[in-house]
Amino acid sequence: MSDTAKYAQYSTLSPALAVGDDEPDRNLALELVRVTEAAAIAGGHWVGFGDKNKADGAAVDAMRSLLSTVHFNGVVVIGEGEKDEAPMLYNGERVGDGSGPECDVAVDPIDGTRLTALGINNALAVLAVAERGTMFDPSAVFYMEKLVTGPEAADMVDLRLPVKQNLHLIAKAKGKKVNQINVMILDRDRHRPLVQEIRDAGARTRFLMDGDVAGAIAAAREGTDIDALMGIGGTPEGIVAACAIKSLGGVIQGRLWPTSDEEKQKALDAGHDLDRVLSTNDLVTSDNCYFAATGITDGDLLRGVRYHGGKVLTQSIVMRSKSGTIRVVDGEHQAHKWESYARLS
Ligand code: FBP
Repeated sequence: MSDTAKYAQYSTLSPALAVGDDEPDRNLALELVRVTEAAAIAGGHWVGFGDKNKADGAAVDAMRSLLSTVHFNGVVVIGEGEKDEAPMLYNGERVGDGSGPECDVAVDPIDGTRLTALGINNALAVLAVAERGTMFDPSAVFYMEKLVTGPEAADMVDLRLPVKQNLHLIAKAKGKKVNQINVMILDRDRHRPLVQEIRDAGARTRFLMDGDVAGAIAAAREGTDIDALMGIGGTPEGIVAACAIKSLGGVIQGRLWPTSDEEKQKALDAGHDLDRVLSTNDLVTSDNCYFAATGITDGDLLRGVRYHGGKVLTQSIVMRSKSGTIRVVDGEHQAHKWESYARLS
């Protein structure tokens, strides 16, 4: 048996996402975690110093620099914005070493820039990758309504149902009482009526200051005490979360939520149906997608960046939907090697 045939029988990667023809069993997710580690370490230098722009700039620089070493031919489809306002990791930018499979790339060097600046829990460095052309185009509308829950109730909930009914379905599927259900929700004025509905239904709210990617993962992942995420958050963050939920199981449902007539018209012109409920598979159609995140500040999901002697310690989670493999990776890095990424001056 040739080497290629021998390795091929161990590999479940489709040819389109195999990490190079002669390295068939390498997992792209493990390359991606190096990228989120770099962004988290760079952003982590700015935790608690009150400057979210410096934190974000450092994380963007580091993520871009490490992405150039990843063996793939990526295009940023969810990035820092359009090219004229985002000098780096803008939508349409080519990333990777250009020699591997063609991929859509979603970057969020810091989900929770304010959390980072203030030293508050749940800031993450995040990256998601899927086969080219398979991520939803979020450009038309910045926000969407979201409903996320884990595998038990994934086939039962529906964003179109009353909040109370969804909460009862989740409770039943999880074998809990409704008053034991915890719903994560961004702490925003726009959510006051939703918070009231959740409480009137008898369930509990758990507020997030920012960072609904971490919230979505907590809602979908087994073993957390979060049963659902509800409310309006960023559409890009919803697509990134969908890439993780493909591995975790569970569901994310979303409905675009334009904030102005202009945005609404733009969405209609782009062919979007504003009443449509988008599900996980609409947000990312590929069944071969990758998600990596590294903690910047401590959180429900991951520990944040820590310093110990001459080392920087990180904790990350990496997932691949095709196999459903989820790994939690503890990293120990030599601090002096990372200082140049942190824009410390
Ligand atoms: P940034 O870190 O980019 O500021 O995003 C944080 C975040 O909380 C997201 O997790 C969330 O989807 C979005 O902002 C919500 O937007 P807004 O703060 O406008 O309600």
